[in-house]
Amino acid sequence: MALDSCGALGFGLPQELVCCAVALIPPSQLQKLESCPSGPLQILPLAASAATPSATDHSPALQTLTLSLTIPTYNEGQNIAPLVERLAALLDGVLPNDYELIVVDDNSPDLTWTTALELQATYPQVRVLRRLEERGLSSAVIRGWQIARGQILGVIDADLQHPPEVLVGLLEAIQQGADLAVGSRHVEGGGVSEWSLTRRVLSRGAQTVGLLLLPQVVGRVSDPMSGYFMVRREAIAGPLLNPKGYKILLEVLGRGTIDTIAEVGYVFQERQEGASKVTWRQYVDYIHHLLRLRLGGRLSRLHQRFPMQRFLRFGLVGLSGVVVDMVILYLLHSTLGLPLTRSKIVAAEVAIINNFIWNDAWTFADVSMLQRGWSARLKRFLKFNLVCLAGLVLNVLVLNVVYNLVFGQRWAYLANLVAIAIVTFWNFWLNLKLSWRVTQVK
Ligand code: GDD
Ligand code: MN
Repeated sequence: MALDSCGALGFGLPQELVCCAVALIPPSQLQKLESCPSGPLQILPLAASAATPSATDHSPALQTLTLSLTIPTYNEGQNIAPLVERLAALLDGVLPNDYELIVVDDNSPDLTWTTALELQATYPQVRVLRRLEERGLSSAVIRGWQIARGQILGVIDADLQHPPEVLVGLLEAIQQGADLAVGSRHVEGGGVSEWSLTRRVLSRGAQTVGLLLLPQVVGRVSDPMSGYFMVRREAIAGPLLNPKGYKILLEVLGRGTIDTIAEVGYVFQERQEGASKVTWRQYVDYIHHLLRLRLGGRLSRLHQRFPMQRFLRFGLVGLSGVVVDMVILYLLHSTLGLPLTRSKIVAAEVAIINNFIWNDAWTFADVSMLQRGWSARLKRFLKFNLVCLAGLVLNVLVLNVVYNLVFGQRWAYLANLVAIAIVTFWNFWLNLKLSWRVTQVK
């Protein structure tokens, strides 16, 4: 039946109507949503994935196919039908009854997934995954491949920017022995249609950054940004995939066992319907993805050991403290005429109180939530105060050591910067371990 594991019915009906819908519609006419795979993003060899069909999969015998093409979609309601029509016309010629088209939709507001389901009546080779919990292009592609029955796994954008005709060349390349066949804008026959200078520069800039950070992966193909390619299943079956953002090809190149690569030129078409989903966020994800591949597990281990986000928040709060300190010092000393040292002591304490309030409510909010009550808060505040005071002493000490012994009594302000950086770490680490210590929770 049409219930999928993402907890929704194929027709998008409310749960209470499910039984009626199932009773009224003969099973043969029920459009079928696939069960969403969950768990690790890992492709299995065909024998293993065929041997473990999911409990909700009612497809007849799991027949293996030559090609499974994943089509990730988000708000492509107007593009999906013409695309499927063109793909079917093309692939029915070269691989009759030997391919499937897997639409992976992230619950698009324009209901792309329902449009895709309706196509099944004419194109039974269309399978539809509607994801409710996961999001993102790269994971969509992998989830599609996880339910795939093909020996060759492919991906194509849904927006007709990738010309379907190129599939034939990609397929031939794999059939002639390539492990990976990439649709490329930067080889003979390739190009972009009407891209602005900014877009070309951004695209090439991203590629250059990739070449610098990860030459042995990015440098293997002329168009590492391509989202149009096919790969032999065995070449990526096994390793845990961990893609980020848009560039799934990087993951395939970085973690797969890819010996032979073929490239087939294509011209990136202009979008006719719908809108691109690329934002600045994809550029940040791209760099993060490159670094992750470059550093292997090292980056994630560092993440686990060092709470970067907390540290950044702590740093920002620290900066706000500097402003508070300055303002109070100005008010007391310059406006009210109090002596400098006394003014500074009050200013520093007000800054410490400011920092404590923000750190308690923001930087370490999750910890303070578990240790409610005024006495617990007061305890945290006193510890914070002590750590900061010790930090101040340390600041003066480090400044003296760096200035006198390291910098040879030059660059006092640079020495101060070094001292501040060291003390910031000290303050952060001690407060993390003492003031907002998780183990205090009973
Ligand atoms: N399921 C799902 N989830 N699909 C998504 C998501 C998502 O979060 N984001 C985008 N898509 C789908 C889109 O619907 C489209 O079919 C495809 O992924 C590509 O998205 P676009 O937003 O159209 O991307 P683009 O054309 O700007 O970017 C493309 O750049 C490369 C060339 O630089 C890439 O996607 C590549 O495929 C392409 O070769
Ligand atoms: Mn596009």
